Amino acid sequence: MRIIVGITGASGIVIAVELLQRLKKMDSVETHLLVTEGGMLTIRDETNFDVYEINKLADVVYNVHEMDAAIASGSFMTDGMAIVPCTMKTVAGIVNGYSDNLLLRAADVCIKEKRPLVLVPREMPFSKIHLRNMKELADIGVVIMPPVMTFYNTDMTLQSHINHVVNKILLHLKLPSELIEWSGGKK
Ligand SMILES: Cc1cc2nc3c(=O)[nH]c(=O)nc-3n(C[C@H](O)[C@H](O)[C@H](O)COP(=O)(O)O)c2cc1C
Repeated sequence: MRIIVGITGASGIVIAVELLQRLKKMDSVETHLLVTEGGMLTIRDETNFDVYEINKLADVVYNVHEMDAAIASGSFMTDGMAIVPCTMKTVAGIVNGYSDNLLLRAADVCIKEKRPLVLVPREMPFSKIHLRNMKELADIGVVIMPPVMTFYNTDMTLQSHINHVVNKILLHLKLPSELIEWSGGKK
């Protein structure tokens, strides 16, 4: 399977790193990675990783301005894309079909080819513009998965919240997920 991972300049880079680490362990998955210029800044500003370390987690790495790359075309088969974290700017670009970088174009291709597209949009609070844009994408089948905290896991560490989001992303990409099933409330 080929999965595209896009990292944009929103807070929450650690979620993308966890996702890439999980994908790397899956022998049947070839990961294609794109990081926007905004993503480079948030990697620098909120983590101790450098982008080269993150790139090593993927099988194929693109420059976000490489508009003639394979993933710019629907004829290159992929099994879906996750944008983690996803800025409000990138959400706006996708909803308007404004594909002025390779990440936006790859998302546009997923939509036109009806392949899974999962966004982990991160902003707080969301404005009416953000909500309108996300609703329009949800209406056409894009999965909108903000990194909401999960309070029903007994282990409420930051890592457990990150794991939960990553497991949900994997589930929507139809990949093996370690999501802990809710088995009902206390009886
Ligand atoms: C440290 C940092 C954190 C940011 N966090 C967010 C965020 O959580 N959500 C968001 O929509 N934009 C955030 N931004 C702003 C985006 O990075 C900015 O709009 C950028 O142009 C997005 O471009 P991109 O979508 O191509 O990465 C942040 C910027 C910086 C420098």
